Amino acid sequence: MTIPLRLTLNGQPREIALDDPRVTLLDLLRERLGLTGAKKGCDRGQCGACTVLVDGRRINACLTLAASLDGAEILTIEGLAEGDRLHPVQAAFIAHDGFQCGFCTPGQIMSAVGLIREGQAGTDPERIREGMSGNLCRCGAYAGILEAVQDAAGRATEQRE
Ligand code: FES
Ligand code: FES
Repeated sequence: MTIPLRLTLNGQPREIALDDPRVTLLDLLRERLGLTGAKKGCDRGQCGACTVLVDGRRINACLTLAASLDGAEILTIEGLAEGDRLHPVQAAFIAHDGFQCGFCTPGQIMSAVGLIREGQAGTDPERIREGMSGNLCRCGAYAGILEAVQDAAGRATEQRE
């Protein structure tokens, strides 16, 4: 028996026949749809490497059953840039050296995009640290990550004003 799933994935409508109700969104993206940007770090909700946006909210794709997402809008790191123009958060991570090995980076960036959209943290460093605390970086690139998020959050605020 297959489970029909309709998603909007990075702006494109997708119809998927799930053959296993236990498959997570992370495995669906990486193993069945070839979108390997979201990373599998811990596979248990502890590292944030798998962060994507579902209906605009940050979630851990490793903890989310794909079957529960019928009708959802999903944004992954692959859908962030517009053509060859990087998203401002991606550009800020480059400008501020917000990564070293890059393994955590797609999750960090998607989490930062979600945090900035939530509009709760502004550019306050403590609130950004708290808002990004679900995303771990084993390289310890936290200083650059914080600067990048502050920079992108500041620019987003300017645009809104
Ligand atoms: Fe999902 Fe670590 S892989 S939180
Ligand atoms: Fe290596 Fe974060 S840049 S884990």
